Amino acid sequence: MRVLVLGNGAREHALCLALAHDPSVTALVCAPGNAGTAAVAEQRGVDATDPAAVAALAQDVDADLVVVGPEAPLVAGVADAVRAAGIACFGPSQAAARLEGSKAFAKDVMAAAGVPTARARMCVTAEQVAEALDEFGAPYVVKDDGLAAGKGVVVTDDREAALAHASACGSVVVEEYLDGPEVSLFCLTDGTAVVPLVPAQDFKRIGDGDTGPNTGGMGAYAPLPWLPAELTDDIVRTVACPTIEEMARRNTPFAGLLYIGLAITRDGPRVIEFNARFGDPETQVVLALLATPLAGLLAAAATGRLAEHEPLRWHDGSAVTVVLASANYPDTPRTGDVLTGAEQSGVIHAGTRRRDDGAIVSAGGRVLSATASASTLDEARQRAYALLATIDLPGGQYRTDIALRAVGAAHPLA
Ligand code: AMP
Ligand code: GLY
Repeated sequence: MRVLVLGNGAREHALCLALAHDPSVTALVCAPGNAGTAAVAEQRGVDATDPAAVAALAQDVDADLVVVGPEAPLVAGVADAVRAAGIACFGPSQAAARLEGSKAFAKDVMAAAGVPTARARMCVTAEQVAEALDEFGAPYVVKDDGLAAGKGVVVTDDREAALAHASACGSVVVEEYLDGPEVSLFCLTDGTAVVPLVPAQDFKRIGDGDTGPNTGGMGAYAPLPWLPAELTDDIVRTVACPTIEEMARRNTPFAGLLYIGLAITRDGPRVIEFNARFGDPETQVVLALLATPLAGLLAAAATGRLAEHEPLRWHDGSAVTVVLASANYPDTPRTGDVLTGAEQSGVIHAGTRRRDDGAIVSAGGRVLSATASASTLDEARQRAYALLATIDLPGGQYRTDIALRAVGAAHPLA
């Protein structure tokens, strides 16, 4: 199978590494890629959000399967263009990707499907925002309605800050605060069948102890020792399946990866958000544990054959990844800093680029993530941090507490 991976983040590097391990993959191309994907895949340039250009590239490289990494190409209709060219595509249609592209649409689908989520109000005017803030009370949650790479959400006790964020965004969703640990559950689906991967947890805030602004994600671990095993099945039954059924009922079937972000509250799991693609950095840890060859699995989801696929196999143990971000992330990340130690096994590249002189330099906010697995979460964590310690990025920032609370937390909801 010839596979084209679209994107240039750590998620795409992790996808490429897993696909390169699959013996059924005879050719692997990544576009536009980064310095890490260039080591495992043929590199091609493309504007990933241009549907015609991506379809032309897929034909040019004779791809049997296109795997779309990020949300922006999906929302732009890339999967539709690839499928129209007769090539299988892992990733939902433009219409189905609205589950991520519009928070208001996602809320509408959840309401129709009876999926448990935070109560919310769609607001356009300052008066509507003020009313909704008072209805739900503090902490206030204000979300930009459109795509914002995980950074469009403000959670704050400061009413003025909540109002200011709303006025900067235009149309927003104001919602009830959900109290409880967060879980990211990735579900593969072909539009009908649903196959969950292992649950993971991401750390969204920039600073230790969950302080500072939200980011795209600063680290992750999987599986979750504190999450009762039956909760994964509960979430598939009460969230994933009804959502997939509702999307099919609307004649916009969702095929690809449904990323369910949840809070495990005292009243049970509540959806925080849907994404229409693999999460980053959770993908790094989930794929580190997946023993089933990835290409066949994604191809089955892309072609309506997921129900026939063999049950997934997983490696024992745990995986941890710690993100190294550039100076000033998430505001205006500094780029062009020279990285050393980035070409090691377990180093998953995000914003990196190889300069003409051969040096690898930073090229984005999240630069790389150091990933390790081991038989225990504690050991995986120590290995990930030991790997990170061998890497140098001037001004680089990382959290020191990824997976810390979960180490030794064998009891539910610790
Ligand atoms: P989202 O882009 O919707 O995933 O939001 C980003 C982050 O903001 C989430 O991962 C949560 O940490 C936080 N967040 C979003 N919505 C809520 C909510 N209703 N209650 C509490 N925290 C939230
Ligand atoms: N880890 C958060 C995201 O991928 O949106």
